[in-house]
Amino acid sequence: DIPSLKAVYADHFKIGAAVEPNQLEGKHAQILKKHFNSLTAENVMKPETIQPEEGEFNFNGGDKIRDFTKENEMIMRGHTLVWHSQVPDWFFEDEKGNLVSKKVLLERMRNHIEKTMKHYKGDIDSWDVVNEVIKPSSDETNGLRNSSWYQIAGIDYIKEAFIHANKIDPGANLYINDYSLLSDPAKRDIMYNLVKELLTEGIPIDGIGMQGHINIKSPSISTMEKTLEKFSSLGVDLQITELDLSVYKNNNQSYDSFSEELAVEQGHRYSKIFKLFKQYSDSITNVTLWGIADDHSWLTGFPVVRNNWPLLFDQSLKAKPAFWRVVVPS
Ligand code: XIL
Repeated sequence: DIPSLKAVYADHFKIGAAVEPNQLEGKHAQILKKHFNSLTAENVMKPETIQPEEGEFNFNGGDKIRDFTKENEMIMRGHTLVWHSQVPDWFFEDEKGNLVSKKVLLERMRNHIEKTMKHYKGDIDSWDVVNEVIKPSSDETNGLRNSSWYQIAGIDYIKEAFIHANKIDPGANLYINDYSLLSDPAKRDIMYNLVKELLTEGIPIDGIGMQGHINIKSPSISTMEKTLEKFSSLGVDLQITELDLSVYKNNNQSYDSFSEELAVEQGHRYSKIFKLFKQYSDSITNVTLWGIADDHSWLTGFPVVRNNWPLLFDQSLKAKPAFWRVVVPS
């Protein structure tokens, strides 16, 4: 019998996994029940699934995951209400295909937030209200991503999303979620300044979600620590929302198999990372892995096709050296 991951970290933070509804049975379900106490829908709660056409709502996949979390005394993260990706074009266009006005877009956004959050009211611990809204290269936009949301509504879509989400479910924790926050100093600073400004204006943001798609070499532990130090000074909750650790340092590498050497290196790095998270467990309330085991990871197709072996369980769902280094810290 092996130790339970969630039990080992019970005094520190929740341990989550991203799942597809078809992973809630068999061996995968056994692992989820034993080791995890938080779930995120990997895809089925994104706008393109929940509202593929205006006014046509589909909560089937999300409901399956929600029911599983309730049956197994887990919490659930809601991912995600407002994003530039996996969102249908109809949000931004009129019947002729022209961009809609700010008023129309914000109405559609509020309606999506309202229908979705009402459906899941009381069942979601934390919502990723907005996802990936920061892009350091865009100078003219003050570091905000120049998405259709931004082009039509400017920064107001972000503010309105939080204000409305808070109205619909005041009990849910509301997150701003993004990638590269643990690695990119520019992105770290933009997020810090943005959240600070929004909090000053009274916008109801409860926390910052750091995706955490990292690799075997970078970012360094000290770079990650700078982000945790800076963000924790804001006094908001922090969550690691999409952790995985690719064995590749760049896009050109590709290994035929997961060698013993790689397994050891990955285990060493995972142990240092969880140790760091533990140091910040006054602020960090949830550490979610973006998948259960190496048999299913989005990285297999992104950014290039190859096996990345990024998680704590292997392709046959056996605990990897990384798992052992995380549950038995040295
Ligand atoms: C990914 C899913 O894992 C894939 O299955 C899907 O094809 C694309 O989206 N950042 C996010 C997640 O916020 O929603 C993404 O999930 C991974 C990157």
